[in-house]
Amino acid sequence: KEMRKKIVAGNWKMNLNLQEGVALATELNAALAADKPNCDVVICTPFIHLASVAAVLDAQTIGLGAENCADKEKGAYTGEVSAEMVKSTGAQYVILGHSERRAYYGETAEILKEKVNLALANGLKVIFCIGEVLEEREADKQNEVVKAQLAGSLFDLTAEQFSNIILAYEPVWAIGTGKTATAEQAEEMHAFIRTTIAEKFGVEAAENVSILYGGSCKPSNAKEIFAKPDVDGGLIGGAALKCADFKGIIDAWK
Ligand code: G3P
Repeated sequence: KEMRKKIVAGNWKMNLNLQEGVALATELNAALAADKPNCDVVICTPFIHLASVAAVLDAQTIGLGAENCADKEKGAYTGEVSAEMVKSTGAQYVILGHSERRAYYGETAEILKEKVNLALANGLKVIFCIGEVLEEREADKQNEVVKAQLAGSLFDLTAEQFSNIILAYEPVWAIGTGKTATAEQAEEMHAFIRTTIAEKFGVEAAENVSILYGGSCKPSNAKEIFAKPDVDGGLIGGAALKCADFKGIIDAWK
C-alpha cells in the first residue's frame, strides 16, 4: 500500500456556477498551501469551470479533472466536449463511467471503452468508476457486476495504458444517500478488484493501481475507510462542495 498513490478526488457533479466554483477552488488552494496534504488531491469540475479553475490552482498541489468527455475525437457532435479539449484547459484527469452517466445517459461498457481510449490517447489520467446497484448487492452479484464493468471497458488496454487508470469503487446504493459501505464492505470489494486486475494485467499493475472508495464519504468516516489495506483514498461528491469538509477528508491521510 505504501507504494501506491494516495488520492482524494472531488466530483462536483452539476453543482456550483462559474463564480462559485472558482471561489471554492481558490479557497481550497489557499487551505492546502497553508497546510500541505499528505496525498494527491484532485478536483473534477463541470467543463465550463475547467480553464478558470486551472488558473487559480497550484498544479503541484491540486490536480484538475473533468467529469466526462466525448466518445468521439472531433467533428459534428453538437454539444460534446472532446478529451483533447479537456486536456487543453490544463486538466490532467477525467472521470469516466460514473454510475450517474451509466444510468441517466445510457453510457454502455462499449461507449466507455471509446472514451477511455480517447482520454488516454490525449494524455489524461482516467478515474474509472465501477459499482453495483442495491438489487445486485442483495442478490450477492456485486463481484460479477464489477468484474464485468472492468472487463467491458478496460481489458483491451495494455499494461502500460492501464498504468494511467485510477479505479473508483462506488456502490450505487451509497451515493448521495448518507449510507456508506462499511469499511469492511469496501475492503472486501477493493481486494476483489485488485485480484481481478492482477489476473488480467499482472501483480505489479495490481499493486500499483490506486483504488478509491466513493459513496457518502465524510470527514467522520474517511479515516476508518482509508485505513483498510486496499483502499487508497476517496472519490467525494457532496462533501467536496465545502472546503472544510473536503479538507477534513484530505486530512484523514494525516
Ligand atoms: O463520484 C462521487 C460520488 O458519486 C459520491 O457522491 O455525494 O455520496 O459523496 P457522495
